[in-house]
Amino acid sequence: MNYAVVSSSLHPDSRSRILARMASGLLQENGHAVDLIDAGDLELPVSDGHSAWKHHHSMDIQDRIGGADGIILAMGIHNYGSSATAKNIVELGARGWNDKVVGLLCAAGGVRGYMGVMHLANSLMLDFHSLIIPRIVYATADDFDGDEIASTEVAKRVGELIEQFVNVSIRLHESNG
Ligand SMILES: Cc1cc2nc3c(=O)[nH]c(=O)nc-3n(C[C@H](O)[C@H](O)[C@H](O)COP(=O)(O)O)c2cc1C
Repeated sequence: MNYAVVSSSLHPDSRSRILARMASGLLQENGHAVDLIDAGDLELPVSDGHSAWKHHHSMDIQDRIGGADGIILAMGIHNYGSSATAKNIVELGARGWNDKVVGLLCAAGGVRGYMGVMHLANSLMLDFHSLIIPRIVYATADDFDGDEIASTEVAKRVGELIEQFVNVSIRLHESNG
């Protein structure tokens, strides 16, 4: 299977990027191809509902997401919701998200924003008919030690998400012929 793992944070020491890297490593260990898309490597325009969709980096995202059998999206929680950069990637990725299996990884400062990702999940389901894996990972600052995941519970949850993500996407792939 060919998967895309999108790290949407622009922070140089992003914690959601650590989650994304773990997810990517697990997929590769299981023999899958992974396209790791780091927003920090791209100069994405701000979504304007107009010409930004035609920007070459937006079209690159659309192609890479659109060509994947499933997508893991990693993000920070900002203002009790998904970060603007994650939302921007969903908007710029446009129809590339159509009918994809999607797994979500969140890094946050504290525990209170744990439902903050749901508006983005709803939007992916309603707009793009994404199949969201109901094993959303939510980690806080205490779950990390430098650039490592310190919490065995969070590491376990990333593993459970990836296991379900792969199972569901393979079955969907098979049923679509
Ligand atoms: C502008 C801004 C707003 C934030 N808002 C919240 C918030 O509402 N709830 C929360 O738990 N953490 C909040 N945080 C903390 C981030 O979620 C935390 O730093 C997380 O690690 C960000 O993800 P990243 O490290 O991948 O960039 C905020 C951080 C910033 C910069």
